Parts: sequence; structure tokens; C-alpha cells
Amino acid sequence: FGVSVDKDLIEKFDEYVKSQGYINRSAAIGDLIRDKLIEEKIKEPENVSFGTIVFVYNHEKREINDKLVELQHNYLDIIIFNTHIHIDKRNCIENIVVKGKNSRIFSLAKDLRAIKGVLTVKLILTDINP
Ligand code: NI
Repeated sequence: FGVSVDKDLIEKFDEYVKSQGYINRSAAIGDLIRDKLIEEKIKEPENVSFGTIVFVYNHEKREINDKLVELQHNYLDIIIFNTHIHIDKRNCIENIVVKGKNSRIFSLAKDLRAIKGVLTVKLILTDINP
């Protein structure tokens, strides 16, 4: 298909295409469209996605480890596995790999944010098809 785009914009886009290693504009445009459609899809509570929830917490906070374990036991239907890495004397980073309905994944992220001592929660979701 043909599209018309401002000269300035297409010049910047061509730089992007080159810097990302695409062989041509078409390949880059296809990826951008796919990414955008997936981005919209993973927002819908009823859709199923997979990805990771990455969060940092202060393990010295009272009873935080018990709270985190108890919480994750409430989400067995979407948790595939998790990893725990000790960052420094006080802080830990945990990565929970999830697959399931977005509403459940959002709910887990929300519950994690509500625990005192959890410092940051990042959700990285995707899907196979747009
Ligand atoms: Ni730790």
C-alpha cells in the first residue's frame, strides 16, 4: 500500500530503520504496526497475555517475605515461575513470569504495589499475534 508522510518525518524514520538494522522501510513498518496492535491488545482485561512482572523490594521490611509468598500463592493460575536476586544488603529484585488473563495479571501487579516495602513494580506483557 502507499502512504504519504512529511519529508522530515520520513527522513527521521529512515534513520531509525537503518539504526535498527531493518533491510527496508516495509519490514520496519510491519513491526511497528504489530507492536502497536499488541500494545492495544495487552491493555484489554479479557485478553490473555504472557510476560513478566519485575519488582524491587526491601527485604528488611517487617514480614514482607511472608506477605510476598502468601500473595503469590493466590495467583497459582497465572504464575509460571519466579526468580529472586539479592541486589545489595537491603534490596531484592524478583521476576515473576506470568501467563493468563490480563485482569488477573493486573490484579497481581496491583496487590504487589500495595505491600509496604515494595519499591517499584514493572509489567512487561506481550502476545504472539496482534
Ligand atoms: Ni533477596
